Amino acid sequence: MRMRIIKVFSWAAVAWVAFGCGMTTVQVPPVQTPPPMNPGPGQPVSLSQDVQPIFTAHCASCHRDGGGAAVFFGIKIRLDSSDDAFSTLVNQTSVQNSSFTLVKPSDSANSLLYLKISSNNPPVGSRMPLLSSPLSDSQIQTIKDWIDQGAADN
Ligand code: HEC
Repeated sequence: MRMRIIKVFSWAAVAWVAFGCGMTTVQVPPVQTPPPMNPGPGQPVSLSQDVQPIFTAHCASCHRDGGGAAVFFGIKIRLDSSDDAFSTLVNQTSVQNSSFTLVKPSDSANSLLYLKISSNNPPVGSRMPLLSSPLSDSQIQTIKDWIDQGAADN
């Protein structure tokens, strides 16, 4: 009885080697590199699809109703939803310095949002996100492209 079980197993092993592993070519799928955050040069950027995930991950903890920046600094931007981000950023005056516009459509160079995420020494206050490492170049580019493409509510 024991021998028979061993025999069955060894024949199974032979069959497995011959038909399964030995004779078929295994197709290894090509490694998929994850798409970069930035849609890429010349590609349209969407506030809700491309920019908002960056705000949600890196900014909304402080910039939302009841967040630290609102409570302690009177900052009005709310970055926890794309609707609120649009209405509190685009063509809005900076709370910290009223000579700056937060997002000036098609003009990232004059948009305080862009200046505060892209420079260690912005014209007003600190680099954002405050108290954590800067956004990646690709994330910064995504936000810049969104502004320079007209800062649409898209
Ligand atoms: C840890 C809390 C914190 C995080 C995270 C944070 N901020 Fe801020 N933010 C502040 C504070 C506090 C100020 C006011 C002081 C300053 O600017 O240094 C501010 C100011 C700003 C202002 C100027 C608003 C105005 O009306 O003048 C902008 C724009 C801004 N933040 C954008 C961002 C963006 C974009 C992110 C994410 C990439 C971010 N912040 C992440 C706390 C934070």
